[in-house]
Amino acid sequence: MHSVQEISPQIFWVGGSDRRLELFENMFPLPNGVSYNSYLISDDKTVLLDTVDSSITKLFIENIKHVLAGRKLDYLVVNHIEPDHGANIEEIIRLYPEVKIIASKTTFKFFDQYFNIDISSNSIVIEKEGTEILLGNHTLSFYFAPMVHWPEVMVTYEKSQGILFSADAFGSFGALAGNIFADETDFENVFLDEARRYYTNIVGKYGRQVQSALKKLSKLEINMICSVHGPIWHKKDIPYILDKYNYWSLYKPEKKGVVFAYGSMYGNTENVMNALANKLAQKGIKDIRMYDVSKTHPSYIISDLWKYSHMVIGAPTYNLNLYYPMHTLLHELTALGFKNRKVSIIGNHTWASAAVKEMKALIGNMPNIEIIGEPIDTTSTLKAEQENKLDKLADDIYKSLNEL
Ligand code: FEO
Repeated sequence: MHSVQEISPQIFWVGGSDRRLELFENMFPLPNGVSYNSYLISDDKTVLLDTVDSSITKLFIENIKHVLAGRKLDYLVVNHIEPDHGANIEEIIRLYPEVKIIASKTTFKFFDQYFNIDISSNSIVIEKEGTEILLGNHTLSFYFAPMVHWPEVMVTYEKSQGILFSADAFGSFGALAGNIFADETDFENVFLDEARRYYTNIVGKYGRQVQSALKKLSKLEINMICSVHGPIWHKKDIPYILDKYNYWSLYKPEKKGVVFAYGSMYGNTENVMNALANKLAQKGIKDIRMYDVSKTHPSYIISDLWKYSHMVIGAPTYNLNLYYPMHTLLHELTALGFKNRKVSIIGNHTWASAAVKEMKALIGNMPNIEIIGEPIDTTSTLKAEQENKLDKLADDIYKSLNEL
């Protein structure tokens, strides 16, 4: 059974959601599933904007056939060829062999890497930004957004309605449940954390490129943003998501606050973290977050570290190195270009100390990171006579928070 919605005259959402997939990109947990959005314009000419993941092919094809109602498909726009949106390109060509594929030059290069069909006679290569294709009442134009988050990405703008088909930009993890517009959902409670986790982990490395794209798109009159994941944005809510994207892509904390991330083999490092959090709470610090790096998937911790101003990292020495789940977290943060934060460090060892040194070195690879307080290097357990060190660290973090 089809499941489509007309989002604007002659423009239809023909996507769907997958609630069965455990890991997006076989890496990121999907407790609430994920949507793959695709859009179909049924004007004098018919156009499909992006396809969907192979997991929802059956529904997707039913949706397209329902909207086309026997018409042929004239164009397929491929804004981005990553398989969660490109997996059904071959199927579309098989069903509509005359379809013309509209994409950037690099997309066609990648097309040949993924597929074994010759589409050279049916290709429309977008070489120049702003190129227009007339459909009847609607007109499409195309803008490049390289490295947001793949090199070939372009976005498509429908001029008559001011609709931006934004590829992955402004997307979110989380399946859609009938309500496909952000203002039909309780976005702050249901989607915002997942939108941030999606951005930081999937697009986070490319803040500079996101800033360039935002600048370029600011010249367009945009009434609706249609991403390929998550809810669609009506005009009144666009400033809200643009503001979030501005914070995220500038690596600016959204909120003053402390995120604790620790590794702990037997609970002793955890104990020190709890004691420090307790001291901060008694000083009035609210909304403290704490994560065990061995238990919580790094994507969640990274997302919260992006949100808050301060972090406290703690881990033991392991095999004369840093406890490796903490190493993984810090390595991934570095790879994502994480910066502009205040960090405090707590290590632990029984006979040889390496954790503090390694955490300092890994943090040192991140730009504009300020170490707050003197790192504490615990020997097995924190003794009562060492509490003064923890008090001093709590004072330093508190002072630093109040300086923001
Ligand atoms: Fe949702 Fe870059 O693919």
